[in-house]
Amino acid sequence: MQDLERITSFINSFYSDDGGTLGEIYENAKAAHVPVIRKETRELLKLLLLMKRPANILEIGTAVGYSALYMSKYASCHTHITTIEMDGERVKEAEKNIQNLGMSGMITVIQGDALKILPELTGTYDFIFMDAAKGQYINYLEEVMRLLAPGGILLSDNILQEGEILESHFLVTKRDRTIHDRMRAYLTALKNDSRLETAILSVGDGIALSVRTNM
Ligand SMILES: C[S@@+](CC[C@H](N)C(=O)[O-])C[C@H]1O[C@@H](n2cnc3c(N)ncnc32)[C@H](O)[C@@H]1O
Repeated sequence: MQDLERITSFINSFYSDDGGTLGEIYENAKAAHVPVIRKETRELLKLLLLMKRPANILEIGTAVGYSALYMSKYASCHTHITTIEMDGERVKEAEKNIQNLGMSGMITVIQGDALKILPELTGTYDFIFMDAAKGQYINYLEEVMRLLAPGGILLSDNILQEGEILESHFLVTKRDRTIHDRMRAYLTALKNDSRLETAILSVGDGIALSVRTNM
């Protein structure tokens, strides 16, 4: 683990900070203990967006809008980003941040529980960023598959749960067992889904990178 931290810190030393207002949003979020995408993960996210150039992005888990704003920098000017957040205070903060950066026309924040919001969405998305409650990913999957366009990318963050996913069910504290079991079930479901090709990568807190290969 110590080696992994050194490797991550070495890799991150090559990446520059955002600077400007976006950089302030990131620093303020971290200072307020609001979870935000890790530096090494966002670099991969940037490259995926530059390669894919998605027209419609769906994010599950807005927090204060940092990752949505970050994505808006690397998407095309025709891209629309829809992002879901259930915490009312965070939604307000996200909308303020999005407005301050002049991105209200490109990013729509929907307030509510993703479990309820996802079935209400129509159309398809060619890029879906899953970054909400880790224990819920498995419950979002059916709706996410309904919304993911052929050839679309599904990026699921924090799938390694700071390494806890490696432990046996019985070694995980009782409190974390449900989330542990559900994340394992989620990874198994992704790998067994014949509509998807999925790579599990140890970038940041672990990501599952999936591509929809057919309907
Ligand atoms: C890891 S944070 C998102 C970070 C954000 N994507 C970023 O990198 O800037 C996860 C967010 O998901 C929200 N969340 C958790 N469960 C949710 C649910 N069921 N529906 C919608 N949002 C949820 C949390 O309130 C939290 O703000």
